[in-house]
Amino acid sequence: MTAENFNAPFKGRSLINWINYSPEEINQILDLSFIVKKQAAAGEIHQRFIGKTIALIFEKRSTRTRCSFETAFGEEGGHPVFLSSQDIQLGAKESVEDTARVLGRMFSAIQFRGFSQNHVETLAKYSGIPVYNGLTDDYHPTQVLADVMTLKENFRELKGLHLAYCGDGRNNVARSLMIICSKLGIHFTIISPQELFPDDKIISICTPFAKVSGSNITISDKISLVKGADSIYTDVWTSMGEESLKKTRTALLNPYQVNDELMQMSEKNSCIFLHCLPAVKGEEVTHEVIEGKQSRVWDQAENRKHTIKAIMLSTL
Ligand code: CP
Ligand code: NVA
Repeated sequence: MTAENFNAPFKGRSLINWINYSPEEINQILDLSFIVKKQAAAGEIHQRFIGKTIALIFEKRSTRTRCSFETAFGEEGGHPVFLSSQDIQLGAKESVEDTARVLGRMFSAIQFRGFSQNHVETLAKYSGIPVYNGLTDDYHPTQVLADVMTLKENFRELKGLHLAYCGDGRNNVARSLMIICSKLGIHFTIISPQELFPDDKIISICTPFAKVSGSNITISDKISLVKGADSIYTDVWTSMGEESLKKTRTALLNPYQVNDELMQMSEKNSCIFLHCLPAVKGEEVTHEVIEGKQSRVWDQAENRKHTIKAIMLSTL
């Protein structure tokens, strides 16, 4: 398979979260991500989005997601249009439905980063074009494709790996990791204080996927469960929009900091550290771990671009 004969197998589909993608489909996009990364490393120039446009709607800040979408689309000859909450009427003076219908007449695709999962779903329902969820309060699907790509680069085979996520177990990243790990046969452990355990709904969504793939999903407040982990992952203690909770979160999550001691508790020298970034060094992760030899966070950040390009190539 090459990127040229890949031929957009999921043409017209949105990426709201990975729930509606089969493991085979996810693996297909993952394969394309590796091809796209190789092409970039070889300095190849492709123009696969000529004549196409994408609306990049951002209600929340972003470095990696915005830059990945904007550069991946632009360097392939497409025209990305950045729209912050200051620029667009979305949900303020104009309903999300109406905005979706108008953008659908003008663009080839939409990326949405914001608060409400309902907004990204409404955009997908009414626009008639592919909509990509670039992060909501509930999910961060493009992130976790880059995460599994990084795991694959390091371990080759995803099935049977053990990923331990330490921190806020109910946030968008933890929930999305649970979905993709359960689909792809990666054992997934969330280690967090009980107050921050993921909701039952996401667990019941993922349980049947895990049954099919052979993945074990474990939720616990015991950090000793990092034992045997191939990768330890964390995210910020307070996500965007939750700034007022910072004090209580810090008190709750202090014992869950990823530091050298915790990394050693994996009892695997091959264990790698992952973080979606941005990181608050000294809170959820120490400077030593994120800058240390087990850290793969910069590869992981780079992989955002390759995976996002592959998602767009597959669906546009
Ligand atoms: N990981 C991630 O989504 O980063 P940004 O917030 O910078 O896009
Ligand atoms: N959970 C974090 C992820 C940032 C990429 C947030 O929502 O702020």
